[in-house]
Amino acid sequence: MSNYKTMLTQQEIIDQTATHVQALLSGEGSGHDWWHILRVWNNAKTIAATEKADLFIVELAALLHDIGDHKFHNGDETIGPRMATEWLTQLKVEDNIIATIVAIIKELSFKGAGTTSDMSSLEGCIVQDADRLDAIGAIGIARTFAYGGHKNREIYNPHISPELHNSFEAYKSSTAPTINHFYEKLLLLKDRMHTKTARALAEQRHKFMEVYLEQFYAEWEGKL
Ligand code: ADP
Ligand code: NI
Repeated sequence: MSNYKTMLTQQEIIDQTATHVQALLSGEGSGHDWWHILRVWNNAKTIAATEKADLFIVELAALLHDIGDHKFHNGDETIGPRMATEWLTQLKVEDNIIATIVAIIKELSFKGAGTTSDMSSLEGCIVQDADRLDAIGAIGIARTFAYGGHKNREIYNPHISPELHNSFEAYKSSTAPTINHFYEKLLLLKDRMHTKTARALAEQRHKFMEVYLEQFYAEWEGKL
């Protein structure tokens, strides 16, 4: 009986996780802040509405997907999964659910134009689509320049061409100007969406980026 009392409901686990992640990522300045997590969480719920997925897993994976990101921990890819495991264990989430969520976090990242990032569960496909929607469109553009500024990158350099990376190592070590990232990742995402809902949303956001780039180059040349 006493044990029953200490078990949290799924909703309580989600709420406590949201509060925890918000505290960890608030004020982050590279486009991986709490508002990114909130948008991905919302995107994931929108996508999941027309899929037969386990919403508890989708929501927790969306909330935890960027804690301990390798980009901010010297390339260490084990930190995020470790932090998520510790947190969910503390909340007494079942081991098999923790394993599914941790697998999603490990598989989620974009690893270069010439690589694949397959997801092993429907829940993972939904969270990856949700995260990638936030990487494109107007918000994607804003996040990309925020990241470039955070990393001291040039906005654009016509002498440095984009590269289609064939390995995660090559992708991760790039220090190219921010405009290159559109060709190295952002413009590739619409064709890599798993779900119908995300594909439709991606279409709009993709077009907006194309219009943006046209305007950018026209202004660069002083034509507009
Ligand atoms: P994923 O969630 O697929 O692993 P990342 O966390 O690597 O993606 O990147 C999330 C966002 O951070 C990108 O969509 C982009 O806005 C920004 N970003 C990451 N790497 C770069 C880069 N090399 N240049 C500019 N922006 C970047
Ligand atoms: Ni993310």
